[in-house]
Amino acid sequence: MVLVSGSGTNLQALLDAASDDAYGATVVAVGADRDDIEGLARAERAGVPTFVERVGDHLDRDKWDERLAERIAGHRPDLVVSAGFMKILGPRVLAAFPVVNTHPALLPAFPGAHAVRDALAYGVRVTGCTVHLVDAGVDTGPVIAQEAVPVLEGDDEKSLHERIKTVERGLLVEMVGRMAREGWTTTGRTVRLGTTSGRTTK
Ligand code: GAR
Repeated sequence: MVLVSGSGTNLQALLDAASDDAYGATVVAVGADRDDIEGLARAERAGVPTFVERVGDHLDRDKWDERLAERIAGHRPDLVVSAGFMKILGPRVLAAFPVVNTHPALLPAFPGAHAVRDALAYGVRVTGCTVHLVDAGVDTGPVIAQEAVPVLEGDDEKSLHERIKTVERGLLVEMVGRMAREGWTTTGRTVRLGTTSGRTTK
C-alpha cells in the first residue's frame, strides 16, 4: 500500500506498473494525511481503496500513529510505500510493517521536507534521489538504491525537482517491484535484494 500527501506522481507510476501482472505487486490501498489531494484522486480513478487520517483529528501524534497502524493493517499489505508522504511515521506503524520511502536527494545529504531547496541553496552540482527503508529517524534508514541527477545552470527548485522526480519514479518502481518479486534482507545498514529467504531484519 502507498501513503501520499500531494500530487502522487510516484503513486501513479506504481499504479501503472502494477497494472501488469508480471510486476509482481499490486497497490491494495492508498492512505493520506489530508483530503483533496491529487494522490487520492489518482487512487480513486484506479479503483483502489483510500483512507485519510489527519494528525489534527487525534489527541496527539501517538494516537494518530495507533489509528494509522490500524487503518494500514486493515488492508493487510506486505509493504508500505511512503511516496511523498510528508509526515514522520510513528513507532506502531514502523513496528508492524516494512516501510520504504523515496526522498529527492542523495541521503544522508539534505534530509527533511525541503531537500531540493536545501541542495540548491548549498550549491551542489549533483543531487538525486534515494529509495530507503524507514527507521525511527528522519530519512536515516538503510539505503536500498540511489540515482544521481545533475544540477543545471539556471535550475530553480521546481525545474530541479521535476528532473529528480522523473528519475525517482523509475527507481521507486524498479525497487518496489524487485522487493515484491525477489524479497530482501537487511543486515545492519545493508539491504540485499534477491534473497528469496525472506524479509528478516537482523
Ligand atoms: C517526491 O519527490 C518525494 O521524494 C518527495 O515529495 C515528492 C512527491 O511527489 N518527498 C519528500 O520530500 C519527503 N521528504 P509526488 O506526490 O508527485 O509523488
